[in-house]
Amino acid sequence: MISLAVCNHKGGTGKTTTAVHLAAALGLSGYQVLVIDLDPQGFLTRMLGVDEPPEDASARMLFQYDTSLDQVEMQSLPGFDLLPSSSTLTKVMRRLNKPTDVLWTREALDDLPEYDVVLFDTAAAVTVFSLNALVASRYVIVPVTPEYQPVVGAEQTHRTVAMVRDKLNPDLEAPLFLFTQVDARKRNHHQYRHYLRKHYGDRVMESVIRTSASLSTSHSDGTTVFEHDPYSRGARDYANAADELLTYLFPGDVSEPEDDAGSASAQGEPVTQSATDERPAPTPSTTVSSEEQRHEDSDPSSTEDQDTATTDTSSRTEEQDTATSDAPSRPDEQDASSTDTSSDEPASLSIVEALRAARSVGS
Ligand SMILES: Nc1ncnc2c1ncn2[C@@H]1O[C@H](COP(=O)(O)OP(=O)(O)OP(=O)(O)O)[C@@H](O)[C@H]1O
Ligand SMILES: [Mg+2]
Repeated sequence: MISLAVCNHKGGTGKTTTAVHLAAALGLSGYQVLVIDLDPQGFLTRMLGVDEPPEDASARMLFQYDTSLDQVEMQSLPGFDLLPSSSTLTKVMRRLNKPTDVLWTREALDDLPEYDVVLFDTAAAVTVFSLNALVASRYVIVPVTPEYQPVVGAEQTHRTVAMVRDKLNPDLEAPLFLFTQVDARKRNHHQYRHYLRKHYGDRVMESVIRTSASLSTSHSDGTTVFEHDPYSRGARDYANAADELLTYLFPGDVSEPEDDAGSASAQGEPVTQSATDERPAPTPSTTVSSEEQRHEDSDPSSTEDQDTATTDTSSRTEEQDTATSDAPSRPDEQDASSTDTSSDEPASLSIVEALRAARSVGS
């Protein structure tokens, strides 16, 4: 069983949206997936249309003596199971103040052998619950909108993960950053993407999640974009991100995405600068290469769902060449011009293709 925490100390960066859609995509790929909602506010639980559960069928049970998780009834949703949040988590939090209280979840997971992947959604703060998720996980995904505060939060999360690895969980891998709510028209999005790639290299996922109305619409019936809008940009982006994630979770088990031949990681290019805990707040480069600009301008974010799916295939070489300065100021928020509409190479769409095939067989 592989466990994965979705975490960014900044709010609103797409953690819950990412947890739900990666879980659904992995479920569609045939993996047995459990999502645990460890945010006491329970937005993921509500987003999936699950009512306030009885205490004994909620994440509250992770923090209960003499309870084995295999006795807890999980909510069954299309593609994955859910251990929902409970409003009683807030009360429990007040009692969880001993250093050993960060270990509850890791011990509880021993009782869940039937799942391939357990995915935690966490709140935007460092709490005993987010620490429980990190202590119980091997992987961390940090959804990060390429803007100032989410990037600061992502770097703080990186430091928290390093602390947890040092003190509590030596198996915890360095986080993977996943860009979310990307809008190619915004110049500052290019700049913050460039900044993170420059400093964190191949820990930044190639796939990016663009802004998509299909993801901001909640259906509250347990379905995800893969059911209600499988050809949308949101479905394709999360399908591609899940494909890429599988190469980290199960290296060797999954085929490489089709367009990896041109990707930075496939070229084996070195990370330009290792991440350090002393790094100051983000100071992104103020220049974007014309090639990178062309690449991202080809992503017509302003015309929802008319595009071909795009992964971030800008190479490390381009990024090294264009890393001219770490300007101390925030970039302008003004939009970049978007005139080049040439499309990128088609990205791997195996999950969406599988869904499409399944539907055409059924019709
Ligand atoms: N790619 C996207 N395109 C458009 N809207 C999005 C996208 N991703 C997330 N959103 C919307 O942005 C808002 C915040 O997303 P979400 O709840 O997933 O963030 P979060 O990090 O979990 O927030 P919190 O820190 O409050 O838990 C939601 O309204 C969601 O529907
Ligand atoms: Mg959330």
